[in-house]
Amino acid sequence: MITRQINPQTLWLTFGTPFETESLMFDREQTTLLKKTPSLPVKLSLENDRLQLTDSLSDDTRVLGLGENLRGMNKRGGIYESFCTDDPIHTPGKKSLYGAHNFLLVEGAVPYGIFIDYPGKVIYDIGYTRHDQLIITITGSDVDIYLFQEGNLKELALAFRRLMGESYIPPKWAFGFQQSRWSYRTSKEVEAVAAAFLENEIPCDAIYLDIDYMERYKDFTVDKEAFPDFPGLVASLKEKGFRLIPIIDAGVKIETDYPVYEEGKDRGYFCLNRKDEPFVAAVWPGKVHFPDFLNPEARRWFGLHYQFLTDQGIEGFWNDMNEPSIFYTEERLQQAIDLAKDSEGQNLDIDAFFHLTDTFKALFNHPDDYKQMYHQVKGEMVNHAKIHNLYGFNMTRSAAEGLAELEPNKRFLLFSRASTVGQGRYAGIWTGDNHSWWEHILLNLQMMPAVNQCGILYTGADTGGFSDNANAQLMIRWSQFSLFTPLFRNHAALHTRHQEPYAFDGASTAILRDVIRLRYALIPYLYSEYMKAAKKSGLFFMPLSFEYSEEQAALTDDQLLVGESLMATPVYRENARGRHVYLPETMLLWKATGPAGGQLEVVPQGHHYLKADLAETLIFLRKNRILVLGEPAMSVEKMDLSTMRVLAFVDDTASYVLYDDDGLTHHHREGAYTEIHLTITHKAGDFQVKVAASSHVKVKVLKLVMINAAGKQQEQVVQVVPDAAN
Ligand code: GLC
Repeated sequence: MITRQINPQTLWLTFGTPFETESLMFDREQTTLLKKTPSLPVKLSLENDRLQLTDSLSDDTRVLGLGENLRGMNKRGGIYESFCTDDPIHTPGKKSLYGAHNFLLVEGAVPYGIFIDYPGKVIYDIGYTRHDQLIITITGSDVDIYLFQEGNLKELALAFRRLMGESYIPPKWAFGFQQSRWSYRTSKEVEAVAAAFLENEIPCDAIYLDIDYMERYKDFTVDKEAFPDFPGLVASLKEKGFRLIPIIDAGVKIETDYPVYEEGKDRGYFCLNRKDEPFVAAVWPGKVHFPDFLNPEARRWFGLHYQFLTDQGIEGFWNDMNEPSIFYTEERLQQAIDLAKDSEGQNLDIDAFFHLTDTFKALFNHPDDYKQMYHQVKGEMVNHAKIHNLYGFNMTRSAAEGLAELEPNKRFLLFSRASTVGQGRYAGIWTGDNHSWWEHILLNLQMMPAVNQCGILYTGADTGGFSDNANAQLMIRWSQFSLFTPLFRNHAALHTRHQEPYAFDGASTAILRDVIRLRYALIPYLYSEYMKAAKKSGLFFMPLSFEYSEEQAALTDDQLLVGESLMATPVYRENARGRHVYLPETMLLWKATGPAGGQLEVVPQGHHYLKADLAETLIFLRKNRILVLGEPAMSVEKMDLSTMRVLAFVDDTASYVLYDDDGLTHHHREGAYTEIHLTITHKAGDFQVKVAASSHVKVKVLKLVMINAAGKQQEQVVQVVPDAAN
């Protein structure tokens, strides 16, 4: 073991010769080699070439983290695996979802954080086998481990965040509402969706194309019959305020004369099997090869193919099936067919019958198939199973680097299904194929802070649920949470009930319109908070325990802090007309019924049951914090930001910096951004306002509503005078 120190709080332990994952980005030259191993919070042991880390857990030790994974925020009681998995049934007993996020925060007597930088499978037994033991099993012994010590949970998480590099910066329009479905199959269908949003006066910034826009599921093709004038459609939608976002899948269809296939094969850019031939698996198009995204040349080749779509006006993509998902391999399917043939006419007893059906079910993502696939890394053949978790990450990196090469100064919308730590530099993620189940609103909320801790800031779930049928109430309640997530996209599976915001009844459409308009009102704040978190390696979502130290804050796992000012407390039970809320301090509640409507009420510290009718979104403004609101429009770019409303809950002093920039380019890196610094002080019932603004600020007027803890309210209109010198 080699032990190094990155800084006094962060240890870096190297075992054997780890695979270079590029998850973290820090200056390795600036680390200090330690001669003696310092005392570690975990015990290390090696057995059968597997490294194991153990720690004992006292009854009140909480274990947070693991990014996109199942169960609550506190992972105690469960067993989990880091192995990117396409599993569309997100029930509590499952061990893995699409991401592999090996970061844990252990809050014992002395809290610590741990990151296992290992691209194969890692198993986390968090008080499952024994309630008082944490056992982390790494399925190999070549690994880098990072330990974060000294500090509270937030400081530990931030210490980890700082090792990852700057997070992905989406275009500002990606904070608008987005509509998806598997599938809007033709130009006419897409145009009808756009028309319905316009007609119903529901804001929307993007409409999605799922796999059916392609010619027989071939990447970088468009079905010409269904979309006879694709660039024309893209342009006319953009004119109306909508971007069109096509999907790209990992597998490349095997088909003679299909250029992507021919090029990949000729240049040796596909993953191989044991016999050095391109590895064959089946996904949507039938048989495919998987690009070898670990090979830098293959990565660049695939990434530059996005030009086929950017040349036609496309400005955003979602990358899918990149765990990679495998429906079947030829050999395994043949074995199953042979078994079925042998079973024909037999009297199948319980064992034989289930053996037969299980054999077919097990074709999907069979672990042994991953062992048959190889990558070429620096001239060596590397078995896929050993680096499985890097596949989706490198597909997304391929897209991000390709797009950056094609248009260096343009921000593209890009998010992926599979991911690992480090991917947050290149793109966001969505949390995959959830269900239209109430439990999945809560799961969505509980995942968000853990995903952020792994550096992935642009994230959200399929609002309304992917599989199964949503009703209007679920759609409304879920949207009342998703309006806080950077990615706010309604997406549903094939054969499910339509769940567009106008697909239910008139009264429900009216509520959804208000909820979505409320989202647009929040965009100045959400964007400002996102950009600050991205540029300063911060967090957008935090559990309450990151800011409040009392036990009750730690036990609250159905509320979230959103940026520095807000707390989200969505209703996530069917037919509920309110919910229990814990307030760690006195806060201002805005029961919002739309971008401007609803009541304000000061709610004291403590436990409360708060009523929330279906049309009411509960938004809490923390003490001495400020919320800046914009005037909604039908799309982000149509918003008039010259007048903003400001809601301030001021006990003594509250200050806020509102960040903004052009939202489309990277000029912000050279200082092309604006800031408004607001400070409000309150003394004996009187409020004082100070505003300082950098030059080029678009905001001209701030309409302030200031409230103190006693409920005294004062309104004031302030002119924003940009500082000519700044
Ligand atoms: C996968 C994706 C889902 C998509 C479907 C068809 O299941 O997770 O979002 O709609 O594939 O492409």
